[in-house]
Amino acid sequence: MLTTIRKRWLPALLAALMLVPPVLAQDRRTEQAIKHRRAAFTLMATYVNRLVQTADGQRPFDARLTTADARAVALLSQLPWEGFIEGSERGDTRAREDIWLDDDKFKTYAGDLQRQSLTLVTVTEAGDLKRFKSTLVEMRNTCSACHKAYRKD
Ligand code: HEC
Repeated sequence: MLTTIRKRWLPALLAALMLVPPVLAQDRRTEQAIKHRRAAFTLMATYVNRLVQTADGQRPFDARLTTADARAVALLSQLPWEGFIEGSERGDTRAREDIWLDDDKFKTYAGDLQRQSLTLVTVTEAGDLKRFKSTLVEMRNTCSACHKAYRKD
């Protein structure tokens, strides 16, 4: 009985499996891309929140420790963008559809964020609390501006 099933259905099953993978692989690729960028943003927000607490005086401004947080943001700010691949406008995402795919303004915001996060590292390393605070404000304005334009609330 089992042998009959194997003989009869196995070839059909194998044939079906061979048809499915390209579609599944594509789905998995976009799913992974969305997960990748969301994870990067989530981690980035964790470190930005720490910096905000530091600016608000809830954490000590310590050149060494605060610089480590700023460095984490600078590194993480390089990571979300590779997750914005074609096709990933659909799925488990709050990104607005289509518009980022070839959008100069989106890339400008991403570039601003990277530049500002590097400035943040420099001024924090120098122990400059005043510039630390002002750069953090600028950087967070970039987060908000990009979200307003490209993220659904
Ligand atoms: C260039 C545009 C851009 C910039 C700059 C930007 N974001 Fe985002 N962010 C997005 C988009 C688009 C999404 C939606 C991603 C998705 O759902 O696929 C997002 C999502 C998020 C999320 C939600 C992650 C989740 O759980 O899905 C957080 C948190 C976040 N961003 C934090 C930040 C912080 C903090 C900054 C600044 C330090 C920042 N973002 C800068 C575009 C940007």
